[in-house]
Amino acid sequence: MTEPQQQAMQTDSVLELMNRFQEPEMRAELAELPLPAGSRGLDAGCGVGLYALWLADAIGPDGRIVAIDPSPERIADAQQIIKNTPEADRITVRQGDATAIDEPDQSFDWVWCSDVLHHIDTAVAALRECVRVVCPGGAMIIKESQVLQALLLPGHLDLERQLQQADVEFQKQETGERSFQERRQRTYETLREAGLREISVRTLLVQRQAPLDAMTRRYIQNGIFDRTWGPRLRPWFGDAAWERRSSLCEADSPQSILARPDYYCIYPVTLFIARV
Ligand SMILES: C[S@@+](CC[C@H](N)C(=O)[O-])C[C@H]1O[C@@H](n2cnc3c(N)ncnc32)[C@H](O)[C@@H]1O
Repeated sequence: MTEPQQQAMQTDSVLELMNRFQEPEMRAELAELPLPAGSRGLDAGCGVGLYALWLADAIGPDGRIVAIDPSPERIADAQQIIKNTPEADRITVRQGDATAIDEPDQSFDWVWCSDVLHHIDTAVAALRECVRVVCPGGAMIIKESQVLQALLLPGHLDLERQLQQADVEFQKQETGERSFQERRQRTYETLREAGLREISVRTLLVQRQAPLDAMTRRYIQNGIFDRTWGPRLRPWFGDAAWERRSSLCEADSPQSILARPDYYCIYPVTLFIARV
């Protein structure tokens, strides 16, 4: 395990674990994106700041990043993660909102927005605001994890479907008519509603198999099985189905699926890349 991964193993932040889980594939992908060397980019909704760091690495020593997030806790986490890195002096981290960006028109070459858009009720307005700050010919890159559902319980199709559907219903309590999952799938439509036309879509897969590295195991166990598929979904299950879920998904269960020597998972990440 690398040193940053060891640090992440000590964190309670599911978001940091999720970022670390995706790191190898996503860093390779960033190198392929239209992010010119020496460019200036905005990370809209930067979370714990790891993507800002990797983006700064991708655009090289003359590139600059402004990373914004409305959450003071996330900004504090991002500042903490970024502060002692070689990229720190090229990244400005500050509180900000994608729906009202405190930057002049056409002041960036690109905007990166990762797993954020589905959280914003006024997503079209946020995209228009992002378009405002990008120079003509620049890029808008929207990343959404799990536009396609991941495979995390291979061989347990019905149970995994039931968990995913219960999660959709759970989210609707917060989001109203459309779940996060439905919003993610409508990203293309949202980009078009915001006036963007040249849009390409690509999906890459994060695949892991037994024996799982400690980071993957911790992300799936803590982030997905315990939290997303945890007690909050109990009301959508009968006793027998919940017992089956617990036997496969609980860390101390003798049948824990993550401990199986034949375990594997497939986790998709989709990028919507629009030319401004
Ligand atoms: C799932 S996290 C993703 C963070 C990060 N981009 C990543 O990929 O790890 C969603 C983030 O969106 C932020 N967010 C929510 N509403 C926002 C808004 N209106 N403008 C910018 N960021 C927002 C949240 O504070 C949170 O940090």
